[in-house]
Formats: sequence, structure tokens, C-alpha cells
Amino acid sequence: MSAEHFRHLAALLDIEREAERAENERKLEKLSVQAREALGKTVTRLVVSREDFGVGGHALWVLSRPSAGEEYSPFQALNQGDLVAISYPSPEPTRVRGTLYDVSEFEITVSLDGAPPEAPIGKCQLDVLGSEATYKRMKKALGAVERSEKAFITRLRNVCLGIEKAEFNKPSVTLVKTRAHVDVNPVEINVDPGMRQDDGHIKFFNTNLNVYQREAVEKALAAQDVALVHGPPGTGKTTVLVEIIRQAVAQGQRVLASAPSNIAVDNLLEKLLETGLDAVRMGHPARILDSLHHATVSARVADHDNQKHILELDQQRERLIRQRSRAMDRGHGISWTERKQMDAEIEKLWRAARDMEYGIGRQVLAEADVVLVTHGGIAKPILKKPFDLLIMDEASQATEPLSWVPMTQAKKVIFAGDPLQLPPTIYSEEAKKKGLGLTLFERLQALLPPEGQTLLRIQYRMHETIMGFSSKQFYDGALEADESVRAHTACELPHVQKNRLTENPLIYVDTVGAGYEEAWNDVLESRENQGEAKLALYLYEQLKEAGIPARAMALLTPYVAQARLLRSLGGPNKELEIGSIDGFQGREKEVIILSLVRSNNEGQVGFLGDTRRMNVGMTRARRLLIVLGDSGTLARHPFYNQFIDYADAHDAHASAWEWIHA
Ligand SMILES: Nc1ncnc2c1ncn2[C@@H]1O[C@H](COP(=O)(O)OP(=O)(O)O)[C@@H](O)[C@H]1O
Ligand SMILES: [Mg+2]
Repeated sequence: MSAEHFRHLAALLDIEREAERAENERKLEKLSVQAREALGKTVTRLVVSREDFGVGGHALWVLSRPSAGEEYSPFQALNQGDLVAISYPSPEPTRVRGTLYDVSEFEITVSLDGAPPEAPIGKCQLDVLGSEATYKRMKKALGAVERSEKAFITRLRNVCLGIEKAEFNKPSVTLVKTRAHVDVNPVEINVDPGMRQDDGHIKFFNTNLNVYQREAVEKALAAQDVALVHGPPGTGKTTVLVEIIRQAVAQGQRVLASAPSNIAVDNLLEKLLETGLDAVRMGHPARILDSLHHATVSARVADHDNQKHILELDQQRERLIRQRSRAMDRGHGISWTERKQMDAEIEKLWRAARDMEYGIGRQVLAEADVVLVTHGGIAKPILKKPFDLLIMDEASQATEPLSWVPMTQAKKVIFAGDPLQLPPTIYSEEAKKKGLGLTLFERLQALLPPEGQTLLRIQYRMHETIMGFSSKQFYDGALEADESVRAHTACELPHVQKNRLTENPLIYVDTVGAGYEEAWNDVLESRENQGEAKLALYLYEQLKEAGIPARAMALLTPYVAQARLLRSLGGPNKELEIGSIDGFQGREKEVIILSLVRSNNEGQVGFLGDTRRMNVGMTRARRLLIVLGDSGTLARHPFYNQFIDYADAHDAHASAWEWIHA
């Protein structure tokens, strides 16, 4: 029965991969090469202006394009970490793959896969590619789980499928009842953090943890197989995971920590490094925050004592490369066979240096307290033996097959997430309906007894009025705002004037009757609303004038076309973030302006109907949330109708006219 489950998931993955490919191709076919260039997915007429080597010996090519008087940088739509191909006709027709390492206005740096070929003479072209690697890894993991005879894998598999019951160690005292007024501050007695105290409770490293967070840590440590930490927005999931990791390391356990996205892994890494743990981050430096590069495997290898041997190999290779080009410059100084021999020698030296690096990397990983990686970034077993503990952050953002990639590497798993925020992106409706849409987190919520689950309830982000609607709609009103944020407003920030906009936590700006019509953007296949975009920017300017710094604010919208429109109307402003809700999950700003876009006579709200998106959008703001939307359209959907009622009840319902005539 379990084999069937995994084969079914593998079949759904095939459907999903096909749907993603078809979607990308459809988008590409719709476009001429020119349009593709206009979207920035292809850049032509590039020249290699510099060759270099980066951390870990990756060959780097710096590419630039002579300006032909374009208004915008040709690199606008490229992102650090994209997989790309560079192709050129001369000196030999070549197509080389790599990763975008750095993107600036005038040049880009590509880190090449493998040994670098001869650089182009003349112009080359760059295309952004999709990646198959993650699919392969998911399929492999599903196959491994289906067939595995290893006790730790079969155990996890059976618990996750509900075939066997999850086990929990009996805590030596009954757990404290989860009511906020119960005082569970540990008595400061002579035990080291990580040890059990006389009263049976754990001594916490982070003594600021609230009662629910402590409960989550105790349950996670008592679990033998799996436990869930359900954390609504701002309730400190990652903070809890960090404590669990510290406790596990104090018990001598080897820990793997993983999340579906690079930014989520970086976030966890940042917090772990602050605690002084030896944390090592796997993954390509191009996809990792600059400030964390020192913790990457590449950087740790570069710092290693054996690095000098690698350096020697690399220098030897560079000498050979120079020799080769000198010989070729002279034209007749080198035969074809000699040249091929030199190429082979260069390749061999490159291989030897990389092999040595790989060996040191394995050693660094084996010795670390905690290893961090994205789910999709694991290609093969990281250690010889499984990790004692796997920590999965943002667990409700990963499909089941993706979750199994790290789960084949550990004996026990702690999941932290919130299924009431956005789920993982799935292209195929069919695959979603047939089971890919159900995350492991959700399945375990139904399977695990209370000993295996905790709902965190105290949030440290939002003014209680910003929190209130989300709490009522999604969490049965269970959320509490911590005293430190409960009543904080934008006008309390330094140098901010008090006015209508800054002293309220929530403002719903109703655009009904303002004549702001939504429009369909055919290229982006998304919606936009020009009038609403202009009003959003106007409000932003007003807030800036009142003294709120641009970097403390963000303009969010569900629609990518609206985000693009806001960006082009807003002009260049590096400080102000403008983006889609989906891309902002897990983050926060003091002030959020949310543009809902929809305005039509039919009352259609499209994918605003997935209210989890709205749950994310509304809960990104700390002190002020401004929502722009047309009540004529929105109120026909019960959720939005209730939001408007909520705004009315909190004296937060304003009209766009207040600002149009200002
Ligand atoms: N017990 C606590 N006391 C004070 N601040 C906390 C506590 N727990 C979390 N926070 C703060 O709340 C914010 C959100 O925490 P984080 O762990 O990132 O939450 P999540 O992972 O759920 O988004 C952070 O600024 C964190 O420092
Ligand atoms: Mg988090």
C-alpha cells in the first residue's frame, strides 16, 4: 500500500513536469525573439569582458553589452541564481551552461558549470533556462522511500502514511497546560542549557521563549519520529526551530536543517550563526545572501588548511592556459594534437583540484553541528550515516515529493509551517487534485496526536488591529499580539509626523466609484489597474513626506502585472520594495500598501478567491496596513465582505475620494 502511494506521487510529478514545461514553452512561443529579449529572458550581443575564478574554483565570466542607447539595462529581468546558457559561434560553436552569479546594471557575472571552454571571439547570446535537477531529485527520493529496507526510512514512511503510530517519550513531568498566564519560566538553578532541570523541564538557551514556544520545543524533543510546529504569521516558528537545534546539538546530535527556498534557508542560517553554533550552508554561493557567504561549504573549504594544495593545482592550470594561448597566438607554434593534449591536461588539473575540494567539503559537513540546505539542493547522501534530526522550515510550502528529498537523510523530522498561508506552486490542476496539492504537513496534522503538535499563538509583528481579521478568519481568534507590538503605530517611529495616515494601524481605501478599471495584460497574463496603482504611489509619497523611510515600506499586490506597473510608474527607487504577495511570504515591513486590483461589473475576484493569499498579504505589516480595493467588486465575495465589515467596525473604512481631491 505504501509502495502504491509513492508510485502515484511519481506519476503526478511526471504530469506536473509536463505542465510546467508546456507552460514555459507556451509563454516562449507566444513571443518573438525580440519580445523574449524585451522580457529579458534572452540577451544578445554580449561580450566577455573578463575571466576570473570565484570561491570554490568556479570559472566566472563577466559579460557586458555595448550600449546602443537603450533606456533600460538589458539585464533587468535576470536574477542572481538563474540557470542560464551562453552560446556563440566562434572560435568554435559552443553552448555552455552556468549560473548567474551577479547582476548589475551594466554587466553580469556567470559562474560556469565545469571546466571553462575557450571564451568567445566576438558576440555571444545568453538564455535563461529552466531546471530539471529538482524533478530528478524528487523522483529519486520517492523511489528510495518506496523501496528502502533501511529501518529509519521505513519507520518515517509508515508514520507519515498513518500505518504506524508516532511515538513520544514521556516527559518526566506532565507538560504545562498551554495557557498564557501559566508561568513556566525555568527556575535558575545550576544546570547547563540543554539539560533537564530537577523539575523535569528543559533549561532553555533562549529564555525569552513564550509558553507556546516552550511547549513546541519540549514536544519536539520528546518526539521519536515527527512533530509539527504550527506557526501563524509572526509567531516565531524559526525562533523555535533554532532552540530545538541548539538543544539537539547540546545532546550531541547531528542536525540537518532545510527549507524549500534559498531565502528561508538563509533566514534560518542567519539566526543560527548568531547563537555561535558551527553551521555550514550547502548550495551555490550565487543563490545565497552575500552576508552569509562565509558560512558556505565553498568558503569553508577556501579557509581550510589544505587549500594551498588546491591553489597550486589551479595555478599550474592557469600557467598551462597562458602557455596554450601564447602558442596559439604565434599561429604555427602548436599542432592540433599538441593542443588537444594541453586541453586534456588542463581539464585533468581542473578535475583534481575540484576532487580535492569535494573531499574537504565532505569533511567540513561531517564535522559541523548543523548543515543547512534547500530541499532541492540535495543531490546525494550528505553524510555516511543519517542525521539524527531534520528540521524543516516553511514546511507547508513544500510538496510531499520535495519534502522526501531531505527526509531520506534523517531519523527524525520536525516540521514548522502554516498551511493557512500560501501553499507550494503547482502548475497542473490535475496533479494538484489527485494528491500533489496535499502537503505532508497537512497530512500529519490529521494523523498526529496532540503530543505531536503545537499551535504558536503569540505574534511579535502586528498591531492587534492588523492581526485581528486574520486571527478571526483563519485561527479561530486564537492569536494574541505581544505587548511589545500590540498598539504600536507608524507615527511612533523616529521623526515621523502624526497624521491621518500614520496614527492608524489599518486603513481600507475604497476605490468604488473612482472609475479605476482593471485591465488584462496579455503578455504577462495577469491583471493591472492603473488608477489604483497611481493612488498607491500617491499614498506612499504622502507617507514618505510624513517621515517614514522608503525602506520601511513595501507595495504589494496579488498580480504580477500590477507589480510591474507599480515599478514602472514608481520610477527607479532602490529603497522601496514593490512585489507580489507570493514573493513576500515570510517577510515583513513597518508599512504595507496592498493593491487588490480587481474592479469589474461582474464581481469577479479571480485568484483573490484563494484567501490564503490575502492572509499572507495582510499579515506582512507591523504598524500600518493600507488596503486598496473596490468594494463594489470585492463585497460580493463573503471573505472580502467580512473584511470590509471589519474595517467599518474599526473605523478604518476610507474612500479614495479623500485623496483624489486632496
Ligand atoms: N519569545 C519571543 N520574544 C520576543 N520576540 C520574539 C519571540 N519569538 C519570536 N520573536 C520575534 O518575532 C519575530 C518573528 O520571529 P520568527 O521566528 O522569524 O517567526 P516566523 O518564523 O514564524 O516568521 C522575530 O523578530 C523574532 O525575534
Ligand atoms: Mg520563519
